[in-house]
Amino acid sequence: MEADAPDLDALLRTLRVWDTDLPDFDPDRTPQDPLPLFTQWFAEAVAAGQREPHAPALATTDADGHADVRVVMLHGADERGWHFASHAGSAKGRQLAGTPYAALGFYWSVQGRQVRVRGTVTTGAAEAAQADLHARSTGALASALVGHQSEVLASQDELARASAAAWERAQREPETVVASWTVYALRPDEVEFFQGDARRRHVRLRYRRGDGHWHKELLWP
Ligand SMILES: Cc1cc2nc3c(=O)[nH]c(=O)nc-3n(C[C@H](O)[C@H](O)[C@H](O)COP(=O)(O)O)c2cc1C
Repeated sequence: MEADAPDLDALLRTLRVWDTDLPDFDPDRTPQDPLPLFTQWFAEAVAAGQREPHAPALATTDADGHADVRVVMLHGADERGWHFASHAGSAKGRQLAGTPYAALGFYWSVQGRQVRVRGTVTTGAAEAAQADLHARSTGALASALVGHQSEVLASQDELARASAAAWERAQREPETVVASWTVYALRPDEVEFFQGDARRRHVRLRYRRGDGHWHKELLWP
């Protein structure tokens, strides 16, 4: 088996970043708030054909102060924050209950762009979470109905049975309430925009919240 294992180091040496035509980014021509710039970059990522630009990494901290990370879907961004949803009883849900602070990391490789968002996390109203869930696909509801997220699974068969029952229920009762489903809002203290550059003169613009308004500053790459 081991003889057939791919050569990771060799593969890594064949791969590149920032070796395509990348957009210019002029930090002097940016809005005073990060949200409009995020929205603009998001729209540009979609227009450029970036796959799944709405799937950022979400970093949280557990009770021991250890970092954790996973991908989630972005459900929206507005003056209340960047919104995502999950089960309150999942690992991330428990971590957020203990340490309501998180970071989101977006990477839009087509344009060599990264956006980092850090801040305090609050939970939305239960009705909002249910409305959010019921506005989504049958698959999203079925997936939420399966529940037990992050618990140890005894076998794939057990999941197959639970999933079949959940799909059947989601189709039959599309307004079913999933009590653990929670919408979270990450209200940023910092938002950083990173524009990659072929000559490695990457542009980093950080917005920091303070004194009731946003401060902008450049960072060394
Ligand atoms: C593209 C993608 C989107 C995902 N979106 C979500 C999501 O919106 N909410 C969620 O709870 N899990 C989502 N997941 C699954 C999570 O990455 C993760 O496996 C799960 O939430 C359990 O994480 P935890 O054990 O840290 O709580 C997504 C995974 C991928 C790959």
